Amino acid sequence: MPQMLKVTPTEHGVRLITLHRPEAMNALNTQLLGELAAELAAVEQDPGTRVVVLTGSRKAFAAGADINEMAERDLVGILNDPRVSHWQAISSFSKPLIAAVNGFALGGGCELVMHADIVIAGEDARFGQPEINLGIMPGAGGTQRLLRAVGKSLAMQMVLSGIAIDARHAQRAGLVSEVTQPELTIERAIELARLIAQKAPLAVRLAKEALLKAQDTDLASGLRFERHAFTVLAGTQDREEGICAFQEKRRANFTGQ
Ligand code: HXC
Repeated sequence: MPQMLKVTPTEHGVRLITLHRPEAMNALNTQLLGELAAELAAVEQDPGTRVVVLTGSRKAFAAGADINEMAERDLVGILNDPRVSHWQAISSFSKPLIAAVNGFALGGGCELVMHADIVIAGEDARFGQPEINLGIMPGAGGTQRLLRAVGKSLAMQMVLSGIAIDARHAQRAGLVSEVTQPELTIERAIELARLIAQKAPLAVRLAKEALLKAQDTDLASGLRFERHAFTVLAGTQDREEGICAFQEKRRANFTGQ
């Protein structure tokens, strides 16, 4: 049983995972990251769970890596850090992941947000990479994913100055897809997740993979992957079902075949 996560049993294909370390603003220590990686690995094996919503508290999604834990690690500790494999496990999650963000998403917390496929933020959310204030720099994608998400100038400003941006700014910059009232953030993320959970699972999986390819490949390779994925889906029962349902004016019942 995870101790630093609250996991709501899957409903309508959606599992809600809440980071729960209130005494430390959900700072991401080894245990919390390990529990999150294990939970996502379990979801990966569970065909009934199609989409995950990840959230924190009203005050903090996550205030970054646990600074007290960081203080205990020397260079050898950092090189053998188990958190590296936890981050890798989180980043290889293949089902849709929606972050519902309220409060602080700083450092590793902002990096965790950027592992999500869709980000819904409450008006009071704040996104920042303050590592520079600790004499370090982001280490879980905060330079690479942030630049791809918001462009060079704002990424440089955030990483080099450590200044956070608010939810509206994050939305304008492309880090966040929707801004809601803080009390509606999770509800909206779940609504979206349920909608996605009704779609054909193979199509969702391949569409996610193709979209992520756009971030790290050249256009010609990305288009080749898209064409290939499109062709793979042409042979699925779900494609047949989707087209039949349209023609018969009924809702499609996708099975993942
Ligand atoms: C450990 C943390 C923490 C953190 C907050 N706390 N952030 N503990 N690691 N990252 C603890 C505080 O020590 C405090 O514990 C309690 O949570 C409440 O925090 P306060 O500071 O009292 O709250 P507030 O004044 O509201 O300020 C909130 C805050 C501030 C702005 C989020 O806590 C803050 O600046 N935190 C650090 C943010 C940060 O620098 N993150 C980047 C970390 S480096 P006590 O026991 O005193 O009550 C990083 C590298 C990633 O993320 C690398 C990935 C590989």
